[in-house]
Amino acid sequence: MNQNPLPDPTAALFPQASERRRVEEWLTGELQRARLQIQAGPVAPTIDMAAFRAEIESYDFSKPRPLEELLRWTIERMEHGIVQMANPRYFGLFNPGASFPAQCADRVVSLFNPQLASSASSPVPVELEKHVIRAIAQRAALGGEATGHFATGGSEANYTALLCALTGAHPGFAGDGARAFAGPPKFYTSRDCHIAWLKIAHQAGVGRSALRLVDTDGRGRMDPQALLRAIAEDRANGAVPVMVAATAGTTGAGMIDPLHACADIARQEHLWYHIDAAWGGAALASNRLRKVLAGIERADSITIDAHKWLATTMGCAIFITRHADLLSEAFHASTSFMPSSVSGVDPYLNSVQWSRRFLGLRLFLTLAAVGWDGLGAHVERSIAVVDRVKERLVGLGWTVANDSALAVLDVVPPAEFGDVRALVRRVVASGRAWAAPTTFEGREVVRICATNGETTVEDVNALIAALTERG
Ligand SMILES: Cc1ncc(COP(=O)(O)O)c(C=O)c1O
Repeated sequence: MNQNPLPDPTAALFPQASERRRVEEWLTGELQRARLQIQAGPVAPTIDMAAFRAEIESYDFSKPRPLEELLRWTIERMEHGIVQMANPRYFGLFNPGASFPAQCADRVVSLFNPQLASSASSPVPVELEKHVIRAIAQRAALGGEATGHFATGGSEANYTALLCALTGAHPGFAGDGARAFAGPPKFYTSRDCHIAWLKIAHQAGVGRSALRLVDTDGRGRMDPQALLRAIAEDRANGAVPVMVAATAGTTGAGMIDPLHACADIARQEHLWYHIDAAWGGAALASNRLRKVLAGIERADSITIDAHKWLATTMGCAIFITRHADLLSEAFHASTSFMPSSVSGVDPYLNSVQWSRRFLGLRLFLTLAAVGWDGLGAHVERSIAVVDRVKERLVGLGWTVANDSALAVLDVVPPAEFGDVRALVRRVVASGRAWAAPTTFEGREVVRICATNGETTVEDVNALIAALTERG
């Protein structure tokens, strides 16, 4: 007679301990090998995507395949199929080479797979995340009452800010949405903001036209006079201004909006004041650089992406606000099935997400392993890298278009190089380095950002060689 009334667990999904160990040890070795390979190899993808699409068709999931074979295949394709953020010659968008402590955090989290919706399910992780949030809030001098949470990205954190602003602006917003307002709600960023704000306006139900893109001052920063004019114009037209969102570290040029002037205007106009410091907020880690963010302490809320300059793995942003009550109001919910229901504590009652990954461990381990001084040194190092690139290019007759205090350099090549976008395409296609084309204050520029904490002088030389080689 069958002693076990239940079928055995599915072995390929839940292997025995010895088999797990064997595969994990092998995988660790494979990943080490891949890491060395991608650091030395081309930055841009080299894969033939037509061939890959044909190949992926063979995965019809009709029969199982050995996990090791699948892992080997996956790593191989990843080695050739992505822009390599872990390559120190990636001078691209704000995507970091991930810190080792953050990578370790991902391993630990995937073993336990804790549910961070509720403090009863995950008392230790919820408390640990709160502790990290408090530490960052303190660093930003937001005051002891400040609270917040980890989010999947800067976009989610910025979305949270808009929902708080709308909730605070009218008691009827929670029930009736944008209809509660006497006129169409409006919010203000500079035209050099991260354009995900448009999607955020769409998601929040106020419509994309709710976003006013305010003129910049010729140096890529929000022009306070233009901001005042836009607010006055909207009020005169019957619209309802709700939020000013300054950017501390614009995506295109690393510029910081005048944080105090924007704060003054937001206060005077009784608007929520948000600072999108998704990338530039990392400057808080450095005692030398913190002053460039002076005024951040006046924000009602801030966004910082640890998965940018603080080098965690992807999906690790922070939203912080000094208005705990509004955060709870914006995300309150009630159900009998959740193991806890503590307003102001349970993440599902304070944020966009419900089921939630333990995101904060990545930043906790990164920060705890290196300390503020170590993290500050990592941030300052990026600026040293960019300064070096700047010095070299200026020496070769290139013109600097921006004057960022942070680690983004926008440069214009001498006229004989021709079209900037074609030049960048050549660099990227060479695989020797990666930079981005963008437009800054009406000029086509090459955007160079130091995001990888291991970039060497040789890597800088490789970038310069790739940029200055004539096509
Ligand atoms: C200034 C700024 N804000 C927001 C975002 C969006 O952040 P995420 O991509 O993490 O959603 C970015 C992304 O680069 C950014 O540079």
